Amino acid sequence: MNETTSPERLTAEAAVEDPIIEVIHLAKSFGPRKVLKDITFTAPRGKTTVIIGGSGSGKSTLLRHMVGYMKPDCGSLLYDGQDIVPMTDDELDPIRRRFGILFQSGALFNSMTVGENVALPLVEHTDLDPKIIKMIVKMKLELVGLRGFEDLKPSQISGGMKKRVGLARAIALDPQIVYYDEPSAGLDPITAAVIDDLMLDLSHKLDITSIVVTHHMDSAFKIADKIIMLHDGRIVAKGTPDDFRNPKDPLVEQFVKGLADGPIRFQMSADDYVKDLLEVES
Ligand SMILES: Nc1ncnc2c1ncn2[C@@H]1O[C@H](COP(=O)(O)OP(=O)(O)O)[C@@H](O)[C@H]1O
Ligand SMILES: [Mg+2]
Repeated sequence: MNETTSPERLTAEAAVEDPIIEVIHLAKSFGPRKVLKDITFTAPRGKTTVIIGGSGSGKSTLLRHMVGYMKPDCGSLLYDGQDIVPMTDDELDPIRRRFGILFQSGALFNSMTVGENVALPLVEHTDLDPKIIKMIVKMKLELVGLRGFEDLKPSQISGGMKKRVGLARAIALDPQIVYYDEPSAGLDPITAAVIDDLMLDLSHKLDITSIVVTHHMDSAFKIADKIIMLHDGRIVAKGTPDDFRNPKDPLVEQFVKGLADGPIRFQMSADDYVKDLLEVES
């Protein structure tokens, strides 16, 4: 990676975008491996920020930091100006309550019905009467187009429907911010488009700030107000979807257009390989 490369190759972030989240100089290593390098960006309130980048570029790791599952080596993560990095789990708890999370690993519990799965955060985090919880579950399932499916088990519904149930569960506690990690992974293109529409619909209807990780550019173009591209743990571009439609940077162009040839290497150099074998710190 060229260390002199500017981290902001596209338009600078608008100074007046009313950020709900500010990520400032965030860095994280696992052993000798620098997985996040000097990550700085903001997420505008009530809008959808999409994080794109190839496999292994650090997208999921960044998301895990943003929801407070991981602590960075350095840097800050501000929510409405409040840094969550130095917070203890107890201090973080009320902030995490404002998040809805739909991660790849966030599978449904197969032994529970659809309704019970959606009710879970309400049962765990509130003292609401079971009748009220049932009502809220119906409302959330209605929002994702699945009212009436309460009593089915996850094994009785399709992959796309499971994602929608996961989404209903993610919004159960009326979150201010919803985090999605590859929400359309493993879905056919039509079902993936349905999930895109649903994310858009929810963010508009419920005035939610969305942070979406994806490597599908068609999805990014459809849902994003702002796009951030990660490459090798570093932000290499940020801007509007229009900035990314006509990229001037060969690295961005290669990713956006899915080109086989370009600056993104699909194999490490022989030197890296030897170092890797010898476990020499780079
Ligand atoms: N807990 C961990 N320990 C060690 N390495 C990790 C850990 N989590 C992620 N990594 C490494 O960090 C890099 C980025 O991973 P990840 O954030 O999952 O990428 P992406 O989501 O963009 O595919 C990968 O090389 C991965 O192997
Ligand atoms: Mg990932």
